[in-house]
Amino acid sequence: MFSYSGNDLYCEQVPLADLAARAGTPAYVYSSQAILANYRAYDEAFGDLPHSVCYAVKANSSLAVLALLAKAGAGFDIVSGGELYRVIQAGGDPSKVVYSGVGKTAAEVGYALESGIHSFNCESESELNLIDALAARRGVKAGFSIRVNPDVDAATHPYISTGLSRHKFGIDIREAAAVYERARRYSNLAAEGVSCHIGSQILDPSPILEAVSKALELASALRAEGQPIRHLDLGGGLGIAYRAEEEAPAIRGFVESVHALLRESGLTVMIEPGRSIVGPAGALLTRVLYRKRNGPREFVVVDAAMNDLIRPALYHAHHEIAPVRRNSLPPITADVVGPVCESGDFLARDREMANVMPGDFLAVRDAGAYGFVLSSNYNSRPRVPEVLVEGTGWRVIRQRETYPDLIRGEVV
Ligand code: LLP
Repeated sequence: MFSYSGNDLYCEQVPLADLAARAGTPAYVYSSQAILANYRAYDEAFGDLPHSVCYAVKANSSLAVLALLAKAGAGFDIVSGGELYRVIQAGGDPSKVVYSGVGKTAAEVGYALESGIHSFNCESESELNLIDALAARRGVKAGFSIRVNPDVDAATHPYISTGLSRHKFGIDIREAAAVYERARRYSNLAAEGVSCHIGSQILDPSPILEAVSKALELASALRAEGQPIRHLDLGGGLGIAYRAEEEAPAIRGFVESVHALLRESGLTVMIEPGRSIVGPAGALLTRVLYRKRNGPREFVVVDAAMNDLIRPALYHAHHEIAPVRRNSLPPITADVVGPVCESGDFLARDREMANVMPGDFLAVRDAGAYGFVLSSNYNSRPRVPEVLVEGTGWRVIRQRETYPDLIRGEVV
């Protein structure tokens, strides 16, 4: 949904140069059509297999984005009470919410129980114990899955790989059956499913399928022992192509493989995609402030920084950086850096890119997931606005923060 017409970059039918001039920079911009198309790609690929696509709120939790997905019928995967609050404020249905995370607090569990979420993805026996006690106090029964740790290597960045036994996540799959058995004694818990999530930004889906096979084996064994397991939660979605030369795995092909594994099982499939729904649907618009050279190195100083998009600094992540208006000058090789006082403040390094001048706009691509949500006020920089494009129109879905916003809640 981001493409050039002539030399101008558009999001849907909106020229980004106009949008950047009017909304100001830096600003995140999202294509509603792309978000919906990516959600529907999962939903439609599952076809008649009973399924629930629970969008991972952590990837982009802005109300308008959640509302768009809620209206399309999505469920939600949350990892905190705050995310549940957002889902509810956006009009999402709590009965389609699964609650993941290794460290849920009693207050958060209580809020989730009172909101009537679908189920908890539990990561330890002490968590099961807590949920049972809190459910008993409220006279309700809480549905749960155990998030199993299948000891499968997701082959992704170590910070976002979660399925090996050395990681903090889940319960060892070899011990899970015994935990489900012991959980029968909790009268306010009901075993609903089995879940696993081995990592994010996975470009080769075969490790996910390996983990699914293991989880399926467990689910079948549990059912044979009379546990009422109804669903299998595959965890997050597929990775995306951040580099122009990369190709993202096809959602349809992946879902077909899942279909083949689960068709006969009678289980409902759940999946919690975040990045692949909102990532490619968003860009961070920024303006070139200065060009400078230090020795042999060329720098393009822009008005967006690591506090606005931390992925390059944190994971050495690559984001394509496209000129909002193409020119015919020969390309340059430069570091694209922001105003923050750290050498880790870069959006790209040693990048062959358009020969831009101060005042020109750039679009940092594929920034719709884990972009704004990871932004901060570091260096007392107000957080940037978010804009949602819908066809020929666009609207600000989060205002740019002001200086007074920066000190809200503080006292001298
Ligand atoms: N479900 C669970 C339990 C998760 O932990 C995650 C992501 C997802 C679903 C969504 O996965 P996705 O479909 O987005 O791959 N900040 C990092 C990514 C952290 C992912 C954490 N968990 C980044 O910017 O790459």
